[in-house]
Amino acid sequence: MKHKRIIVTHYGGPDALQVMEEECPEPKGGEVRVKVQAAGVSLPDVMAREGIHPETPRVPFTPGWDLVGVADRLGDGVTGIETGQIVAAMPISGAYTQFICLPQQELIPVPSGLDPAEAVSLILNYITAYQMMHRSAKVRSGQRVLIHGASGGVGSALLQLGRLAGLEMYGTCSSRGASAVSEMGAVAIDYEHQDFVHEIHRLTGEGVDVVFDSIGGAHIWRSRKALRSVGKVVAYGLTGSLSGGRSSGRSGGRHPYRGIAIFGLYIAAGWILPGRKRVTPYSIQTLKRLKPEWFRQDLVALFELLQKQRIKPLIAQRLPLTNARDAHELLGQGGVIGKIVLVS
Ligand SMILES: NC(=O)c1ccc[n+]([C@@H]2O[C@H](COP(=O)([O-])OP(=O)(O)OC[C@H]3O[C@@H](n4cnc5c(N)ncnc54)[C@H](OP(=O)(O)O)[C@@H]3O)[C@@H](O)[C@H]2O)c1
Repeated sequence: MKHKRIIVTHYGGPDALQVMEEECPEPKGGEVRVKVQAAGVSLPDVMAREGIHPETPRVPFTPGWDLVGVADRLGDGVTGIETGQIVAAMPISGAYTQFICLPQQELIPVPSGLDPAEAVSLILNYITAYQMMHRSAKVRSGQRVLIHGASGGVGSALLQLGRLAGLEMYGTCSSRGASAVSEMGAVAIDYEHQDFVHEIHRLTGEGVDVVFDSIGGAHIWRSRKALRSVGKVVAYGLTGSLSGGRSSGRSGGRHPYRGIAIFGLYIAAGWILPGRKRVTPYSIQTLKRLKPEWFRQDLVALFELLQKQRIKPLIAQRLPLTNARDAHELLGQGGVIGKIVLVS
């Protein structure tokens, strides 16, 4: 049987994404073949395509951090999973495909009745948001937080979880995302026309307890200025290294550590300088490798919140797998509210 998957042929723009057809993979011992129903599209995929994400594989590779699908064929020795069961996984790359074989221990059962596109949004975006909020920042009800990129995939997840946690929220976004950010319970700050440090101090007086910074680079230091005298910046992204969906440095090739070194500088400065303003990095893949049980527990908790309709992922677009290139072009143009999902 043949299947289709997307490959990145070279590090570069959306034209690097090509559809290929090949024989369906067969599961080895301990593996399960999953028929993918929904694969998330995220900025980390765009950065990997550009060759600048820390997890960038060597070309040619299939992008796609997260997926939800049906267990379709079991390899030798697999127990506790049945064919037909709906499962979730975060392979980091490989999800833009019709079929994928994954080790059994990478699969987490998805409760029945959930929309695969909503369920897949919980994996990368909501686990990132949940762990930053409850495991890194350890927020308490009534605290004040600033969320950058608040109308995007992770940003909207932070807003929905922040509302449940009883936080006072401020969110930077472009004018295209302002109404969505307000509806999710935050004061919107237009990052293109307003100085967020000035706005935060004007609106709050003393600053915020926590900033979730997805932009990276020198922006982390500006986020620190938005803190009150004791506070924390959780630095987790490099959105600022892209412009119009392309790498700002654009020298081509694979540069997985570009942009990372500066994190270390800011973390160290946060400790050395007087005051108690800290910069803490967060990485979902690092925490998953160190604490796989947290990843599993947190996804199960999020599935429960989705089942109880206490969270509602914003699905910006559902596109067929073969339109992966359009998905990357849309994300690069900006103004996407929530998550783009590739569906089969
Ligand atoms: N560390 C981790 O474990 C982890 C996990 C997941 C994601 N991430 C990182 O998180 C970031 C967001 O990923 P995503 O998939 O959620 O992306 P996304 O859906 O494209 O959201 C990015 C948002 O940032 C906004 N934005 C762009 N420049 C901005 C600026 N200077 N100030 C404030 N907002 C700005 C965009 O608004 P407009 O489009 O309206 O301009 C967009 O809403 C990426 O850097 C990604 O690598 C990290």
